[in-house]
Amino acid sequence: MSNTNKRIFLSPPFVGAAERAAVRGAFDSGYVAPCGPQVDEFEHRLAKLAGRKYAVAVSSGTAAIDLLMAELGVDETWTVVAPTLTFVATVGPAFHRGAKLVFVDSDATGNIDVSLLEEALESLRVKLRSSRGRATLSDSKSALKDSKILVVGVDLYGDCCDYGAIAKLCRKFGAVFVTDAAEAVGATRDGRPAGSAGLAGVYSFNGNKIVTTSGGGAIVTDDCGLAERAKKRSQQSREKCAWYEHKEVGYNYRLSNILAAIGLAQLDRLPAILKKRKANYDWYARNFKGDLLAPTLGANHWLTVAVLSSCRERDKLLRRFEAANIEARPVWKPLHLQPIFAKCRVFGGEVAKALFERGVCLPSGTGLKCGDFARIARCLK
Ligand SMILES: Cc1ncc(COP(=O)(O)O)c(C=O)c1O
Repeated sequence: MSNTNKRIFLSPPFVGAAERAAVRGAFDSGYVAPCGPQVDEFEHRLAKLAGRKYAVAVSSGTAAIDLLMAELGVDETWTVVAPTLTFVATVGPAFHRGAKLVFVDSDATGNIDVSLLEEALESLRVKLRSSRGRATLSDSKSALKDSKILVVGVDLYGDCCDYGAIAKLCRKFGAVFVTDAAEAVGATRDGRPAGSAGLAGVYSFNGNKIVTTSGGGAIVTDDCGLAERAKKRSQQSREKCAWYEHKEVGYNYRLSNILAAIGLAQLDRLPAILKKRKANYDWYARNFKGDLLAPTLGANHWLTVAVLSSCRERDKLLRRFEAANIEARPVWKPLHLQPIFAKCRVFGGEVAKALFERGVCLPSGTGLKCGDFARIARCLK
C-alpha cells in the first residue's frame, strides 16, 4: 500500500525513540518484572500530575476501577450512578459485583447532566448526611461505611465533568464520589487536574489514550489507606511475611516495570502531546463547517467529536472516511441502550441518544501530519 493511502487511525500510540530507550533502560537495569524503580517513579509522577498524594499503577483502567469497587465493598446492596454516555468499563466492575446500575443523561457538552444527577440522587432517597460546606476525606470515609451509593463521574473524551457541582451533590446526598478520568490524563477543570475530585480518580494508559503504556492504568487518591490496600490487592493481597500468607484473596493487577518505563517517557512528552491535540481540535474548528462537541477550557482534546445533522449524515461521513482508509467512529453507544443494561433505570437519555446517532469521533492522533489533514479535509467537504 502506498504511503498516501496508509490508514489513518483514530488515536494511535505516539511513541518513538524516547520510549524505546526507556524500555531498553528498564530492561538493562534488570527489572523485567512487575516491580521496579520505573513503577515507583511513574506512580510518583502520576500523583503529582493528578494533584494527589498517592498513585497506584496497575495493568489497566478497568483494573483500577475494579480495585476501587473492592475497596468500597461494592456488592448487590450498592447502587452505582454513572453517565450513560461512556465506555462500558466505567460500570463493568460494578456490574460484575451485582450492584444496581442507574444511568444519567448528558448535557450539551456530552458530560453528565448535573441537574438530572440531582434528580437521580433525590429519587434514591438518600438521607441528607452532612450540611457541612467543604468535603473532607473523613466525610468520604464515613460515607463509605453506610451510604452504599456511588457516583462515578466520567471525563468524556478528555473533557472533565463538573467536579465541583458533582462533589457538592455527593456531599448533600451522602454518596461516595470517584472519577473515571480514563480519557482525561493531563486535562484540568477549573484549575483542578483530571482525577483530583472525590475519593479517588482513575486513569487509563491503553494504546489509544493520550499517554500510553501499551496497556495500563492507575488509581490516584489522597487516602493513604486506600492506596496501600489497592496496591496490596493488586499484588494478590499477600501479607508481609516470608511465605505466602493470605487474610484475603487479591488480584494480579500489577503494571509491569517495563511498561512503566514507556509511561515515564510519555509523561515527558505530555505538554507537547496536549499542545498537538489542541491544535488538532483547532484545525477541525476552522475546517469543519458543522458543529463540534465543544469541550470546556482545560480539556485534553483526546478525541474531537463532530455532531452531524442526522443519523444518515453521520453514516455518510463514516462511509466516506472508511472509503479513504481513515478510522473514525460513532460516539459511545449510551449504556442505557445496550441490551445488557436494558432493565437499568435511566434519568433522561435523549441527549446521549442524539449524540450517539449524530456524533462522529474524528481522527485525533498526536502524530497527525499536514498530508493526513489534507485527506481528512476531502472527507469533510
Ligand atoms: C471512560 C473509560 N473508562 C474506563 C476505560 C478502561 O480503561 P482500560 O482500557 O485501560 O481498561 C476506558 C478506556 O478504555 C474509558 O474510556
